[in-house]
Amino acid sequence: MFDLRSDTVTRPSPGMRAAIAVADVGDDVYREDPTTRLLEEEVAAITGKPAALFVSSGTMANQLALLCQTRPGDEVIAGRSAHVIAYESGAGAALSGVQFAQTAGEIFSAEEAARLIRQRAYYCPRTSVIAVENTHNMGGGRIFPQTNIAALGELCRREGFVFHLDGARIWNAAIATGTSVAELCAPFDSVSVCFSKGLGAPVGSALCGSRELLERALRWRKMLGGGMRQVGLLAAGARYALEHNRTRLAEDHAAAAALGARLAEIEGVTVAPVETNIVIAKLAHAEAAVARGRALGASFSAISPDTIRLVTHLDVTGPRFGDALALVTQAVREALHG
Ligand SMILES: Cc1ncc(COP(=O)(O)O)c(C=O)c1O
Repeated sequence: MFDLRSDTVTRPSPGMRAAIAVADVGDDVYREDPTTRLLEEEVAAITGKPAALFVSSGTMANQLALLCQTRPGDEVIAGRSAHVIAYESGAGAALSGVQFAQTAGEIFSAEEAARLIRQRAYYCPRTSVIAVENTHNMGGGRIFPQTNIAALGELCRREGFVFHLDGARIWNAAIATGTSVAELCAPFDSVSVCFSKGLGAPVGSALCGSRELLERALRWRKMLGGGMRQVGLLAAGARYALEHNRTRLAEDHAAAAALGARLAEIEGVTVAPVETNIVIAKLAHAEAAVARGRALGASFSAISPDTIRLVTHLDVTGPRFGDALALVTQAVREALHG
């Protein structure tokens, strides 16, 4: 079965498993796990931030950013369908007591964000954070233009807001644009990154930012039960992923572009521009296409009755990708045209 539902479905490669098996470990609640500390230093250097904290998931990294940088009653501006709004079980409201103002699209300008800023009055929510997702997951892996980010960063400085990046797939944006991760992250106060998506590690994310922010995050992480002991086993997988699986993301992008092009040839299918490793296609009978795909041996998702989503990653991109491509196109063709 070719699994194109998400880049989170990858399994650790033999090389990664070998790195995990020999990882040097200690008690990370005592901050004595050498592999985790190394990973945190490396991630801080790659993102260009003073410090990084290894956490269990992208959700935890985003939620720690909110817990540390907001107060109950605050409002966070974020894009439509942002992960932090739509796919974190309502944690922003439940844990930080914040509400969200959503922009019209996934990608937004400083002007649009400025229109959402609340009047500074005691009876209004206090706008305190602008959050950007790059690349945008439900937006089809779109890259958030750096010019918009620069302008949003300026708006945040001017207004005294925190500027947060959900960079779960910032690695993809860096490879696709030929820009360093540090440059992409530079305008932000806090950045979450994931090792368990296109990079192929089994577990883990990091929150990056100032030392002071991460000291607060360390405390919150412990309160949430996220203090882990010999977690170097997981950090070793993440370190391996950073070293071996970043530049190869270009292969996933090329595969997604090929998939998008092939789907676009089918009558009745409209494919959104493919910028990284996610393909979004509109067609009638999305569920039927998914069911047909599963029966043929290629799994992908219907994200609405007329939209399918396919994600390329290191477990499907490679010598056998041609087979996956053929099965997906056959499934869509058959669902639409019998
Ligand atoms: C953009 C984005 N942010 C955050 C997350 C959350 O990551 P996790 O599933 O590790 O909590 C995801 C997961 O798919 C994501 O796509």
